[in-house]
Formats: sequence, C-alpha cells, structure tokens
Amino acid sequence: MSVFREGFLWGGATAANQCEGAYLEGGKGLNVPDMLLGGDVNTPRTFCPHLEPGVFYPSHEAIDFYHHYKEDIALFGEMGFKCFRLSINWARIFPNGDDAEPNEEGLAFYDRVFDECKKNGIEPLVTLCHYEIPWAIVTKYHGFADRRVIDLFVKYAVTCFTRYKDKVKYWLTFNEINIGLMNAAMGALYGLGLVQDEDLARTKPCTLPEIKDVPQQRFEALHNQFVASAKAVIEGHKINPDFMIGNMICHITWYPLTPNPKDILEDQKRDSLCNDLCGDVQVRGAYPYFAKKYYQDLGLDTSFMENEEDLALIKEGTVDFYTFSYYMSNCVTVDENADTVQGNMLGGAKNPYLKASDWGWQIDPDGLRFTLNKLASRYPGKPLMVVENGFGAFDKVEEDGSIHDDYRISYFKAHIAAMREAVKDGVPLIGYTTWGPIDLVSAGTGQYAKRYGFIYVDRHDDGTGDFGRSRKDSFFWYKKVIASNGEDLE
Ligand code: BG6
Repeated sequence: MSVFREGFLWGGATAANQCEGAYLEGGKGLNVPDMLLGGDVNTPRTFCPHLEPGVFYPSHEAIDFYHHYKEDIALFGEMGFKCFRLSINWARIFPNGDDAEPNEEGLAFYDRVFDECKKNGIEPLVTLCHYEIPWAIVTKYHGFADRRVIDLFVKYAVTCFTRYKDKVKYWLTFNEINIGLMNAAMGALYGLGLVQDEDLARTKPCTLPEIKDVPQQRFEALHNQFVASAKAVIEGHKINPDFMIGNMICHITWYPLTPNPKDILEDQKRDSLCNDLCGDVQVRGAYPYFAKKYYQDLGLDTSFMENEEDLALIKEGTVDFYTFSYYMSNCVTVDENADTVQGNMLGGAKNPYLKASDWGWQIDPDGLRFTLNKLASRYPGKPLMVVENGFGAFDKVEEDGSIHDDYRISYFKAHIAAMREAVKDGVPLIGYTTWGPIDLVSAGTGQYAKRYGFIYVDRHDDGTGDFGRSRKDSFFWYKKVIASNGEDLE
C-alpha cells in the first residue's frame, strides 16, 4: 500500500504567461511578462517599457497552449494526472485591469480548458495571479502600490470564483507572494507591478536590475497584496464554502554554511524573512513578531502595518492550505569570500555536498523532506502541497525523435522518495505538481532552452520550431509513478 493518501493530487503546474501565447488574441490585454525579452544563465532579462518592433518576446507565442490546450490536457490525461495547476491570465479577463465588465471571450476560454480537464479526469488547481499583472495596472496605478488595485484584484477574483464555482475547487491567490521580499527587481515588477515613472519614460529597454527599486513602496505594495489575498479568500468562501483557497510561497531552503553562531543567526534571519514572514501572515493571519523590527532596520515607515481594518481582514482571510515551490537549497554565511551559486530568485553560498544544474541551482532532495517537516511543525494541521518542483535542463532530440532525459528522472525520483519519507514522518501532504510538465518559457531567463517538461515542445530561443509535442522518457516514467500512487519510482 502507498504511503501517499488516496486521492493524492499528482500532476503538473504551469503559468498562463509561460505557456499560453496568443498574447493579443481573444481580447487579451498586455501583461507584465509581455514586456520582457529573453536572457540566459548569465544575462538578465530585458524590460521594454514600450513594445519594440521586430524583437522576439518569448511570452507572445510561448508554447501556444491557447491553441493546443486540448492536445496538451489529453497528454496530461494519458500520464494519469489527477491535478493540473494553471493560472488564469488576468489580462484575458480584464484587459485593462479596471474594465467595468469582464471579457467574455477570455472567460469562455477557461470554461473550455476546465471542461477539457474534467473530460480527462483532472482536477484544476487555479492560480489567480502568476506574475500576470495587466500592464495597464502598472502604467495607470503603479501596481499594488495603489490601494485601488486591491479592489481591482478582488473584483477579478470574484468574477473567476463566480464563473467557475462548479468547475474549480482548488485556488491559489498569488504565486510566490514572497518574491517581493527576496528579489527586488523581479519582485517589484513581476510580483507587485511596480515601475517608476522615470523607468516607464525610458525610450530604450533596460535590464531588470536597472529598474529603480523603492523599498518603502515595495513593502507597502506587498502589504496591499496581503489584504487583497485575504479579501479574495473571504469572498471566495461566500461564493462556494467548499472552495479550498491556498497561498503560494517560493520556499528557498537555507542552511548555515558553518557552525559559526554568526552563520546560524544569519541563516535563521534569512529563513524568517524569505519564507516565514509571508507564510505567517497568510496562514496565521498576522505579521510575525520580527517583521516590524526588520522593516524598521531598513529605514521604513511602518505605519502601513498598523491599519486596523487591514489587520482584521488579514486575520479573517487566512488560507485553507499552504502551497510552495521547491527547487533547490542555498547556504548562508557571514564569510564574504565564500564561493557562491545561483538559485531560484536568490543565490547563496555554495554547499560543498551538493551538485548543481546547468543554471547553478543546487539539487537537494533531502532539503524537501526537511522543508516539509519544518512547515508541518510551523503550521500544525494545515494541509501542505508542493505545487512546483522540477529540473530545468538542455534536452537532446535523437535522430529517431526520442529524448532520453534520465537526469530529469533522477531528479524527480530522489525528490519523490524524499517526499515519501516526509509523509512517513507524518507530514499532511495532499499533492504534488511538478513544474512545467510540458516545456515552457522560463520565468527567470525567458529561455525555451531551459526545459522542464515530460513533453517536449519544438520551439526555440531564435523563434524557430513548429510547436510540435513529443513524449520524453520521463513521460512514461511519471505515468508509472502516478499509476502506483508514488510507489513505483523505477
Ligand atoms: C518559480 C516560478 O519560481 O520557478 C515559475 O513560479 C518559474 O514561474 C519556476 O518558471 C522555474 O524558474 P525558471 O526561472 O527556471 O523558469
């Protein structure tokens, strides 16, 4: 018998902006990722305040899921998926962010997607905002810095909850809401929709790190996002009390590089700020005790954290389950000369015991067991779900069209085995969706070449490829894993 519960949500996760394409079809407005060019492991992505003619924007066509969704969902069904995590593209529903009425064509598209999931026996898990703030909200309102955007988001959430109340049970409000605390450039633009007027007025594109960061505004915008998330949870439960509405944290697991107590303290601080601050607000319904001091140490005016009405909403609108992404771990040290590595959103000190991917992300399956146990004890009784875990790699297509991605299988095998140990430890884990079950555009680098899928997509960074889909070796492997409810990892 499997250690994973009956009905365990095995599947895969995507984001609209990284797979849909059709960036102006069906009445969709522009969103933040539409304004970004691709980079690579050593080159940050470029931000264009205005679309430049003749330039290749990876998200504009992405993998064209918009036209291939039937075929893709059928392939997920063939693998035996129980769950498909996807996001709704906010700008398909409210192209200008503040439209009086939603765009029916956009709503109808997701009706068709959810119907297709149902046909294939797949439960959708929907992220309302996966780095997809409508561009008009950035230019008109400066994103979540403007409190009116709280209600624009809630209106959008209520529109989706109402329309799909009988088709979707599992929801997430914001993808990786903690990104604004971890990575100023990505967090401000992707997570919170903040771009200063002087950057909007640029006549030439610039790299993401060149965009001006205003910490006071960034932290206030994050607070507004907490309020928006809480309000959405409250409204969602009124629409359907059976909804399970969760949060989503980019969990970067940190270890002290050495037993030097200074490293231990630094590690504790990093974990508290990167991971726990947002998790506590959304699960426990209040800022943790250390938040204010940290903000004050940054020189911020913290009066925004004291708005009684906001705090009451945050207290009331706590989530039903906690979800997170887990790809890698990093070390922390006060030693400025320590070797460093890259990572998801944040790099860190190099761990001498771990190997890393071609993008410098350290591979650490034990870290997943460690993280699951940490979360289970921090949030007792809260169901947990791993909603992203995966291995970005270069794939080689053989002459006969096969793709032997044994490196990806090894990664998943080790992580699922670690998850199994965590479940044996007693962790209340309800599901696991791998990141990018089908190749898609990388969020960090904008590349196609960084492939995550069980399904290969013929599309390349120079814009060539016919979008054809094919099954990699890992496709057949994951199918067996699901069929055995996580027991057969060979
Ligand atoms: C997560 C994001 O942080 O990491 C995804 O939620 C992203 O959108 C994933 O794609 C993997 O990162 P990357 O940079 O390899 O695409």
